[in-house]
Amino acid sequence: MRAIVVSTPGDSSVLEYVERPDPAPGPGEVLVQVAASGVNFIDVYHRQGRYPLPLPFVPGSEGAGTVIATGEGVTDLVVGDAVGWANALGGYATRAVIPADLAVPLPRGLSPELAAAVLLQGLTAHYLTHSVYAVRPGDDVLVHAAAGGVGLLLTQMAKLLGARVIGTVSSEAKEKLAREAGADEVLRYENFSEAVREITGAGVHVVYDGVGASTFDGSLASLRPRGMMALYGAASGPVPPFDPQRLDVGGSLFLTRPTLGHYVATREELLGRAGELLGWVASGALKVHITGRYPLAEARRAHDDLEARRTTGKLLLIP
Ligand SMILES: NC(=O)c1ccc[n+]([C@@H]2O[C@H](COP(=O)([O-])OP(=O)(O)OC[C@H]3O[C@@H](n4cnc5c(N)ncnc54)[C@H](OP(=O)(O)O)[C@@H]3O)[C@@H](O)[C@H]2O)c1
Repeated sequence: MRAIVVSTPGDSSVLEYVERPDPAPGPGEVLVQVAASGVNFIDVYHRQGRYPLPLPFVPGSEGAGTVIATGEGVTDLVVGDAVGWANALGGYATRAVIPADLAVPLPRGLSPELAAAVLLQGLTAHYLTHSVYAVRPGDDVLVHAAAGGVGLLLTQMAKLLGARVIGTVSSEAKEKLAREAGADEVLRYENFSEAVREITGAGVHVVYDGVGASTFDGSLASLRPRGMMALYGAASGPVPPFDPQRLDVGGSLFLTRPTLGHYVATREELLGRAGELLGWVASGALKVHITGRYPLAEARRAHDDLEARRTTGKLLLIP
């Protein structure tokens, strides 16, 4: 098999395309012939060593394909099944070993490419809008990087739930995409909290902030009393240490730093969220924007484009 391997943390040049022996599934695992791997910002953090992993490793947390072998004790998946996953390492490869309890059986008719494009970012948007802060009709919601992978899905889900969505983006082309996804107002980052106050008066009910360092202060300043700051990522860098007293001054605010794994903590929860998500994709209620398909061998270029803010929507690696 072929795979991208990281042997030392660093910039995109550490992503090496190599030949490896075929892996065998252990107990409770399945071997998948990968049809497509999703590219996510977390892959950049893993590569940089910001979230350290034992070395060497095959990056990639998301993918989809066909089961070609099953390990001991796997009873609910068989060879030939189409599956996707959103929280298992090793997707940047032609073949991947995945724990069977993290594999989501794909509904008939859903292409593996689409599954690889929507599972991680879609499950993230699902738990953020349904569980971290359950969006209600009439809520004001601020979504940063609204034309990004998670951003476009968050925007659409918050609209499906009846919110008014304010998005931030860095360019006119991204603004157009965010508006097409349903954003009611689209802002640039400069002084965004003042613009949010002008639009909403009291401030927003929730901020979904995956940008981190450069937006954090403005996000807090955009919240209404008792509003929720959902800091779910750090595309611009990590947020420095924080004095909880700021939550009091801001109006008894809530701050959470959630991560997907804790919101798909059981198989039941994973399949429940995935079923709803893939149902919306199948019905057309949720649009998935695949904007870049890179050959697996060109993973470096995909990372460079993502880090340089040149991308919108979803990037895939095709083995
Ligand atoms: N906690 C979780 O469960 C979870 C799960 C999935 C993803 N995430 C996080 O969600 C965030 C978005 O992930 P994604 O994969 O969908 O990526 P993405 O949003 O498609 O790409 C990142 C976007 O962030 C914006 N950005 C602002 N400042 C930036 C900077 N200094 N450098 C790079 N980008 C910057 C850019 O949009 P503009 O040019 O419009 O600003 C860029 O396109 C990431 O922080 C990721 O770690 C968290």
